[in-house]
Amino acid sequence: MSKRSPLHEARLLFKPELPRVFAASAVEVCLGKATVAESDGKEIAARFPNTYGAPTVSFSQKERSEQDKAVKVGVILSGGQAPGGHNVISGLFDALKAGNKDSQLFGFVGGPSGILEDDAIEITDELLSTYRNTGGFDIIGSGRTKLETTEQFDRCIEVCKDRGINAILIIGGDDSNTNAALLAEYFAEKKTGISVIGAPKTIDGDLKNESIETSFGFDTATKTYSELISNIQRDANSAKKYWHFIKLMGRSASHIALECALQTQPNVTIISEEVLANNMTLNEVVDYIADIVIARSRVGEKFGVALIPEGLIEFIPEIKKLIAELNDLIAHHADEFGSLQTEEEQISWISQELSADSLNAFSSLPLSIKNQMLAERDPHGNVQVSLIETEKLLSELVAKQVKGAGMSFKVHHHFFGYEGRCAFPSNFDANYCYALGQTAYQLIAAGLTGYLAAVKGLAKPVADWQPAGVPITMMMNMEQRHGEQKPVIKKALVELDGAPFKTFVAHREEWAKHTSYLFTGAIQYYGPSEVADITTQTLAIESKN
Ligand code: FBP
Repeated sequence: MSKRSPLHEARLLFKPELPRVFAASAVEVCLGKATVAESDGKEIAARFPNTYGAPTVSFSQKERSEQDKAVKVGVILSGGQAPGGHNVISGLFDALKAGNKDSQLFGFVGGPSGILEDDAIEITDELLSTYRNTGGFDIIGSGRTKLETTEQFDRCIEVCKDRGINAILIIGGDDSNTNAALLAEYFAEKKTGISVIGAPKTIDGDLKNESIETSFGFDTATKTYSELISNIQRDANSAKKYWHFIKLMGRSASHIALECALQTQPNVTIISEEVLANNMTLNEVVDYIADIVIARSRVGEKFGVALIPEGLIEFIPEIKKLIAELNDLIAHHADEFGSLQTEEEQISWISQELSADSLNAFSSLPLSIKNQMLAERDPHGNVQVSLIETEKLLSELVAKQVKGAGMSFKVHHHFFGYEGRCAFPSNFDANYCYALGQTAYQLIAAGLTGYLAAVKGLAKPVADWQPAGVPITMMMNMEQRHGEQKPVIKKALVELDGAPFKTFVAHREEWAKHTSYLFTGAIQYYGPSEVADITTQTLAIESKN
């Protein structure tokens, strides 16, 4: 056995708490009302004739009278890592074996490509015993291959049939679960009898709606970042000489930045959704930060902490337009652009092609940022925003203003993202994910398809949590994607009229002026419940409203 840390050993033995309904020897599936899509119902109904309108599902306790039919289930981890993935698999495995010890669980290796390549391993109790309650997705690995074409769906049928697989659980974010719904519809159309169930994963917190209170991983990731932020805050408050500009992961939405702000009370937090709603220019964002830096400096506080969401750059209208033009130009002139030898040549070529507004925006950027904007595109031809050092861009522009006002400004930069994606899941995520896995099994055992496993009442004690099944089509609307109208799960951005954002707004001026840092410390896995079992501020605030 390889050596493990004491916490690692202890977490392997942690027993997730179960919602009361799952403490019985068996559960009964209760079908609720038929559902309709979030919007564009007619269009979505037409695209999902076999799965649209399914009822919501809840569960009640019953005594087990007979064992469940033996099933073979395949599980796929899709997209970025999020703490708790191993517990979804553990919850699924334990429920499946409790239902019938002859049931089997297979893990497709390396994400969705695993099913296309028919690369799977059987998940056994022995294997799982070294992964329970641990972070990461390394039990089977993850990947970003998208399952979306008919050829891929046919291949999935072929592989499932060869292996005798009756159901697939896709653990993923909004895009992966959108594709899970398409796969479920295709399987239903072809009368395969194979069900497809999803589980809501992403540290970004943007797979969230009336039925999904939070995606798993958000709790642990934001607690991890908050610990790091508050350690930096204490350092800043001790040395009193540095500003720290911290970029926080979250591809698009600013939920992570908002949650970390609520947990740590830094001096500046930018919320991308607010920048977009107020049509703020890059200069206006810079002015906002510089004013706070200058005001603090005037009262002798030459230090501070600023949180910048990863996706900000794409929410600043003039930069958004610039990025769209760059993506188009580079895609349409791939050969010509690719033949340019140096960064200088690239900048000069692109500058001749841009519209006047975009050229203006591009010219105002520091050289390093210009180069990052022209760097390699992602597989969809988009700029990789996580590679753009927005924290450096902002600090450079803020420095000009602060120094212009005759003040000194010393800054350090940080990017917190990967640090939080594979942390040991907090008790909340460990319990939540285990319950999601158990829920997924119950949906599979009931022969349902096209559902997302969900757990409601998450701000309550675990025993009171209510597992549920939510038809994926219910969360969909039509959106323009790659030039076409497509049915997709609506991505949840920070709501500016939502209670978490309003709570932040009510305090941010105070936090900017007066050092009001909160020191969260590390995630606690053991000890008093009020320390070890707390949820996010976002969930706590939302559940009160
Ligand atoms: P998911 O939406 O797949 O959960 O991934 C989210 C995320 O962690 C973002 O916060 C980040 O922008 C992105 O993944 C980074 O992707 P990669 O792991 O491919 O570098």
